[in-house]
Amino acid sequence: MPAIRDPNTLSNYNHFLTTHTVVRLAVNFDGRKISGDVVLKLKSITDAASKEIVLDTSYLAVEDVAVEGRNSKWRLSSRSEPYGSALRITLDEGVDNGATLNVKISIATTEECTALGWMTPAQARSEHPYMYTQCQAIHARSIFPCQDTPDVKSTFEFYITSPLPVIASGLPTDTQEVQPEHGASTGTKLYKFVQDIPIPSYLFAFASGDIEKARIGPRSLVATGPKELAAAKWELEESMENFMQTIENIVFPYAWEQYNVLILPPSFPYGGMENPVYTYATPTIISGDRENVDVIAHELSHSYSGNLVSCCSWEHFWLNEGWTTYLERRIQAALHGEPHRDFSAIIGWTALQDSVTQFGETHEFTKLIIDLTGKDPDDAFSSIPYEKGYTFLSYLEGQLGKDRWNRFIPHYFTTFARRSLDSYEFKANLLSFFESDPIASGALNKVDWDAWFYKPGLPPKPNFDTSLVDVCYELSSKWENMGSEKFEPKAQDVRGWAADQIVVFLDNVQKFAQKLDKSKTQLMRSVYGLTDSGNAEVLARYYMVALKAKDDSVYEPTAKLLGNVGRMKFVRPLYRLLSEADRSLAVETFEKNRDFYHPICRGLVEKDLFDVGKKT
Ligand code: BES
Ligand code: ZN
Repeated sequence: MPAIRDPNTLSNYNHFLTTHTVVRLAVNFDGRKISGDVVLKLKSITDAASKEIVLDTSYLAVEDVAVEGRNSKWRLSSRSEPYGSALRITLDEGVDNGATLNVKISIATTEECTALGWMTPAQARSEHPYMYTQCQAIHARSIFPCQDTPDVKSTFEFYITSPLPVIASGLPTDTQEVQPEHGASTGTKLYKFVQDIPIPSYLFAFASGDIEKARIGPRSLVATGPKELAAAKWELEESMENFMQTIENIVFPYAWEQYNVLILPPSFPYGGMENPVYTYATPTIISGDRENVDVIAHELSHSYSGNLVSCCSWEHFWLNEGWTTYLERRIQAALHGEPHRDFSAIIGWTALQDSVTQFGETHEFTKLIIDLTGKDPDDAFSSIPYEKGYTFLSYLEGQLGKDRWNRFIPHYFTTFARRSLDSYEFKANLLSFFESDPIASGALNKVDWDAWFYKPGLPPKPNFDTSLVDVCYELSSKWENMGSEKFEPKAQDVRGWAADQIVVFLDNVQKFAQKLDKSKTQLMRSVYGLTDSGNAEVLARYYMVALKAKDDSVYEPTAKLLGNVGRMKFVRPLYRLLSEADRSLAVETFEKNRDFYHPICRGLVEKDLFDVGKKT
């Protein structure tokens, strides 16, 4: 019997494996609920002839279960936090190894569903309501019963009924008018999609709203609200196909046929989410300057690391995000030159330092491989798997030399395509690839695998190429030493700078921002036009600097931003700092915008604001 490698699922996936999933769901905007049924094709994988199927569910109303067309005995266990309620289905007889069963389950989501964002027309900035799913890490179980682990991959058929257009993480095959049932809105259609490449449950996704599409490349569309379409197209069309061809040269041809981007309403809690066929992205990347398209290079890279080759549990999440950050930066280097790779890595290193400081340098979650037994993977989320993972892969590249390492990349993605793996399989694959190459083996012998995998805190700091950031460092030290050295800030200090250079400058200023007084932060703002920026990375960082300096002129604008953006990367640190500066405004802002946020964001900010000290 294969072992269960994922501690964050209640399913018995060591007895049965989902090989195909058919989902029939109707979107009910008025009732804010999804209902319908799912058919899981489950294959027995043990000689133990198990008589029980255990599936993950969370805050889900289960109405009916049929095995091979016959009603069967089932019960929902009581909730076990943070994993939900196991759905236990009893079989009349055991199933032979290799045999399959079709299990059909009728369900409806509930108000507590953690995977669905529902927006009023006003929140969607539209005349229509909007809804979207967000399943990573363990929220798919809140939409349909499944083996909610990245260690299990299934092909999918989607049949989604909605009064508004639908996109999904499968290729569209057909759309049909449906006769409105009693109470259903007119204009309701059935949207069909298929996903023939097996995917883990966390990549199941669909969204519905007043969505229109425009072409941004030969294999790519962007989808967003009709008013936002032209700007979204302009932002992405220049880079889309270049990104695709670049990564195809690094790894191998793109496997998913289409690569499309859905721009979500502002409450979307992430920068991007790599749903196959349709990457989801925050509207903050449509900044009018094409300066945030790296998010798309990142999500596109997940088409290889994460979507084709997946970590087998969230304990090995770095295999998804570290590899993706690595590939994203290789795209940047190939398109804009090597210094751009380190430019981005330097920003990443600062984020890594911040995460280590936030958790504490001996914290479990600062390791590359983490122990998530009994834990919620959302609580472990930070820059560490991204940046420690990136640093590790870059270190391996340096040890082996670029030519050897470049040959390993397609080998790794070919070996594990359509599968899930842990860090030990990654290590074994690397060692065996270079087995008969004495120079490479010698280099790999020197790698301290245990330290990289299990040592908490920062890894050794790489030698970065600082050619693009030296000017940013110089400027920030002028601000730091303003009291003792003469310095008159001028607009030309930052003239011609890329937004990321301002980001590096502000990241540095943040380190001494506590010592600044508000006349300085206000001067910085007016001279450099920092709040004129349509770039959320710049704006959020400026507010963080000013909040640290207790500059009360930014308290209200910060509160306003917190009512307009739901991306956690900005929302969580801004709440933390606003709460330190003006606790009652922070609490009041959160209460006012509670419904605007996605449930995952709402839950985490709530923890940040009200459970301090109770952190994992
Ligand atoms: N897969 C992640 C987002 C995610 C992680 C969602 C964990 C839920 C749980 C996505 O690929 C990502 O890394 N997004 C980043 C983008 C960035 C690194 C360019 C983000 O949201 O900031
Ligand atoms: Zn990612």
